[in-house]
Amino acid sequence: MSKPLELVATCALGLEDLLARELLELGVANPAPLRGAVGFRGDWVDVWRGNWRLRTANRLLVSLDSWPAENGDALAAGAARLIARRERAWGGLACASLFQPHRTLALRSTSSASRVRDVRWINQKVKDGLVDAQREIYGRRSSVDRSSPDLALRVWLRKDQATLLLDTSGEPLDRRGYRIRTTEAPVRENIAAACVMAAGWDGRGPVVDPMCGSGTLLAEAANWALGRAPGALRKAWGFQRLPNYSHPRFRDVMNEAIPAPGPDVELYGVDRSPTAVEASRMNLARARLDDRATLARADAFDYAPPASPGLLLVNPPYGERLEGGREQWRRLGDLLKQRYRGWRAVVLAGDEHRGKHVGLRPSLRLPVRNGPLDARILLFEIY
Ligand SMILES: C[S@@+](CC[C@H](N)C(=O)[O-])C[C@H]1O[C@@H](n2cnc3c(N)ncnc32)[C@H](O)[C@@H]1O
Repeated sequence: MSKPLELVATCALGLEDLLARELLELGVANPAPLRGAVGFRGDWVDVWRGNWRLRTANRLLVSLDSWPAENGDALAAGAARLIARRERAWGGLACASLFQPHRTLALRSTSSASRVRDVRWINQKVKDGLVDAQREIYGRRSSVDRSSPDLALRVWLRKDQATLLLDTSGEPLDRRGYRIRTTEAPVRENIAAACVMAAGWDGRGPVVDPMCGSGTLLAEAANWALGRAPGALRKAWGFQRLPNYSHPRFRDVMNEAIPAPGPDVELYGVDRSPTAVEASRMNLARARLDDRATLARADAFDYAPPASPGLLLVNPPYGERLEGGREQWRRLGDLLKQRYRGWRAVVLAGDEHRGKHVGLRPSLRLPVRNGPLDARILLFEIY
């Protein structure tokens, strides 16, 4: 049996524990939360399953090799040594097959606490090492294709130690394929999924978003409740361009049953902006959720939710530093207390100070990096 693959699923900072929990649910043993990522061991089927099913991940990477690299020459030499070991294999995928010179490649690098800091220089030196060694061994070299490479490679340089990783996702995993219309400040799909997973919701009862924007929180709640894979509408992943890809075996992964705790889920979305309501309508239709969704143009503070309690998800546009910010949060808190008694409410609050003035004590406060912004996922159980 071949050695397991060293895998890394990346995520927004703050979502590591939720992602580790997802991996456990997929049957992965001992996922190890890192910073903005979770490390684990597995095989290629785990790679395909992760890309198909992980809701909170950004990408799934396979670690190929690691070597000390204090300068550009060491970066290139380590990459060249890797190509020279043609028989080396990752879960049965041989180096000679992965790095065939007719396959295009692209590199992206990051550097921290290392002597080489210029990421373009890291890209350049590692690429030189790879392609010079290819030329020597095969008489030909891979060309670089930055927009659609066969091999999307990453170099992480940490404390003068280079790690070369293969990106198996291609487009990041938050691109689910249902967002065909966008509005101001839509939440990323994997952060919306994290809001649903952080809620500890059992999948029962209605789901309401009274400021629904483009409908992302509703879509993620429904897909989780219905056991629909986040990859179901995607057309392609990076792993499909690798030489060991087998469509029938991936089809088996796609056909695996996913727990569906809320088969009767109903969605209710309102927004005061007609463009937002239209965007939600189009996106939820694309997500094949239109038969479960009731959408209307309304003010959140006038809207009367369904009588039986369920899950409220909301990402208000308020900023504490903006004028009236505190007052807006207080109003939202009053709304929750008056209209949503018995509900679970998840509020995605914009930056680290926001949400303090809701007037309810959150049972969970999860800091998360939402793109360039600090945010908080706040859970209120309203009794
Ligand atoms: C940050 S966006 C929500 C984004 C949404 N989660 C998404 O993924 O697209 C905030 C939304 O709240 C809506 N909004 C603000 N105040 C509102 C109110 N009082 N009633 C209803 N909608 C409101 C805005 O029109 C905007 O669409």
